[in-house]
Amino acid sequence: MPTDELKRNADQYLMGTYARQPISIVRGRGTKVYDLEGREYVDFVGGIAVNILGHAHPDLVLAIQKQAAQLIHTSNLYYTQPQAKLAQMLVDHSFADQVFFCNSGAEANEAAIKLARRYSHEKYGAGRFEIITMKQSFHGRTMATLTATGQAKVQKGYEPLVPGFTHVTFNHLIELEQAVTEKTAAIMLEPVQGEGGVHVASPDYLKAVRDLCTQRDILLIFDEVQTGMGRTGTLFAYEQLHVHPDIMTLAKGLGGGVPIGACLATAPVAKAFGPGSHASTFGGNPLACAAALAVLRVLLEGRVLDHARRMGEYLSKGLSECKERHHNVRDVRGLGLLQGMEVEIDAKTVVGDCLKRGLLINAAGERVLRFIPPLIITQAEIDRLLEVLSQIFDRHAAHAAH
Ligand SMILES: Cc1ncc(COP(=O)(O)O)c(C=O)c1O
Repeated sequence: MPTDELKRNADQYLMGTYARQPISIVRGRGTKVYDLEGREYVDFVGGIAVNILGHAHPDLVLAIQKQAAQLIHTSNLYYTQPQAKLAQMLVDHSFADQVFFCNSGAEANEAAIKLARRYSHEKYGAGRFEIITMKQSFHGRTMATLTATGQAKVQKGYEPLVPGFTHVTFNHLIELEQAVTEKTAAIMLEPVQGEGGVHVASPDYLKAVRDLCTQRDILLIFDEVQTGMGRTGTLFAYEQLHVHPDIMTLAKGLGGGVPIGACLATAPVAKAFGPGSHASTFGGNPLACAAALAVLRVLLEGRVLDHARRMGEYLSKGLSECKERHHNVRDVRGLGLLQGMEVEIDAKTVVGDCLKRGLLINAAGERVLRFIPPLIITQAEIDRLLEVLSQIFDRHAAHAAH
């Protein structure tokens, strides 16, 4: 179906929740995707921080093919090898002792919120259920996770929201300390806020938050849905920030494109989830877990992570140099291959300009360009991005001058 017709069809039959770019992507390989008309795009979006090994990675494709031919799904009424193996590998390489699998980031955060409430309920009784989260955060689109999300635009029209959430300013310790009450069960945050405009938590702040949580037996939840699985240059962002959470959520990169989410916790916390306390029909099914195992094995082998760390530094340096040269760039922030550039022009316009020049990039809010490519992105591709951005900023500056 030609792209124009596809667009008309999709707009007629799909609910209008997304503002899509006017291209139809039909295939991908490595760091590139191709549209119906055969145009090539370098992918600095990576399915919104999902395709960490790029497109059609041979190990991932083979793992999915093999598992699909053997057993796709059977439910959590039974044991399956890929699920147990994946849980063990995640535990072996993180602070956590146990894992609950689900299918998305929102679901992983739902699980984390439920686990925190249940832990607190069992230990302290009914009144201690509040969760403090951050302004500008993003935790998902279910009722509890959109309530946890500190952005009014995500909540608008869905009131009444779920009781028991308070939002405080990110990286502001005193405000957080003042928000803690005898009802506080958990503090939840992203080590790097992604959707909210790419803001990095300061290590000192995180350490103080950890100490506060430990003193008051408040659970610390890290939402690593976007930062996890090598995005920031280490398997999990918390490793670089020298602070362990009690609960961590993962999704996005975990399955390299196959939907899977996970909620990881320490043993004393995980104990609060007994049989029947939480569940998901598809959660951790053999196909998704086989995909995630393939992704994790590639990451643990080390070379992709080393490369991601180097490319993260290269991208960050290049964007900062670009900021020095262009007045319409206000700020560059990020960690590893999660980089944001705050601009003085409409971010969506820049996204459109990049698309026309064969680059997929993404906007996080009205003024922030976000770069979240596959971890296998190359130096030459980053150079091309920087060159294209420079041309776009020059053109906008020239227009503004007239
Ligand atoms: C930090 C964070 N948490 C949660 C989510 C929600 O994930 P999902 O869209 O898979 O439900 C996202 C999605 O962008 C995210 O960035």
